[in-house]
Amino acid sequence: MKVIMFHTQNFEREYFIQANQKYKHTINFLDIPLTLLTAKLTKGYPCVCCFGNDPLDASVLKELAKQGVKLLALRTVGFDHVDLNTAKKLKLTVAHVPNYSPYAVAEHAVGLILSLNRKIYRAHIRVQEHNFSLNGLTGFDLYDTTVGVIGTGRIGSIFARIMTGFGCHVLAYDPHPNPGCEALGVKYTPLEDLLSQSKIISLHCPLTEDTYHLIGPSELELMQPGVMLINTGRGALLDTRAIIQALKTRKIGFLGLDVYEEEKSLFFENHSLDIIQDDIFARLLSFPNVLITAHQGFLTEQALANIAQITLANIFAFETGKGKIYLVN
Ligand code: NAI
Repeated sequence: MKVIMFHTQNFEREYFIQANQKYKHTINFLDIPLTLLTAKLTKGYPCVCCFGNDPLDASVLKELAKQGVKLLALRTVGFDHVDLNTAKKLKLTVAHVPNYSPYAVAEHAVGLILSLNRKIYRAHIRVQEHNFSLNGLTGFDLYDTTVGVIGTGRIGSIFARIMTGFGCHVLAYDPHPNPGCEALGVKYTPLEDLLSQSKIISLHCPLTEDTYHLIGPSELELMQPGVMLINTGRGALLDTRAIIQALKTRKIGFLGLDVYEEEKSLFFENHSLDIIQDDIFARLLSFPNVLITAHQGFLTEQALANIAQITLANIFAFETGKGKIYLVN
């Protein structure tokens, strides 16, 4: 099938070329994002392959349909950036990659915990400057610590398992408890109990109307002083303004983020020569106990290979009717 791929990142291109040896689609790799203007380039391409921060709102979808596009092949799990009602009305099929490597994200969350706790990111800078002082670098044993996991689906359950390996007591909150986690000794509690009893809290639930600003002023109030908060889920699970207040009073002792509420205008691009206009993000960066990565939780070789393989298989299934297609609508 003829595929036009927008917002192609260098880190993913080789995985698509490799996976396409099997499917033999004709892929036009573009590094520009999909916008109302660039949507006009899709004429002659029945399939558009989109990145996570390409805004697929009604106007863009209408332009795609006008150009003859039939399939939107998202190379992401999430589809909160797609106006699905409009896609349905326009008879645009939307496929996604439901699961590529839950290990990648769970392990990244653990990486943030270890780095924040033992201040590895600060220690590295000191050693580079030949400052070998250890003052201010004291951490705590993870062993015997209580860790709270919010959302124990694919990623959260793996995260919980890793933390039990450290000898942590793992509490969980999820409207649908996972029997696999219970078998590991994970204890399901009401959210309030998890918030008040955990020294480390990690978020692994999806962003929905119910979970928007799941952690705000009243939830922070319940937490232990100096709590470590980790978010590799979605930025808007946290009320970032409330988080900044809690960092200022040291209620939050450590903050590890792989996602940010307003990340669309920042992440996945090099802004090193720009003046950051987002004052909330700039304030977050100013705290010594905040560690931010730019949505790289998924970024492992296995995950990239799976994303390419499943995306191209979706396109093949749409074209031929053979094999499974992971539809979102
Ligand atoms: P999943 O669907 O397997 O699990 C989500 C779990 O959250 C389910 O068990 C569900 O019952 C639970 N849940 C739903 N509402 C909840 C609530 N109000 N409170 C507590 N739990 C709730 O999803 P998966 O694959 O584990 O992914 C989790 C999230 O991780 C995704 O929604 C996405 O936002 C994020 N993610 C982040 C990536 C990154 O690179 N940082 C990459 C992939 C996913």
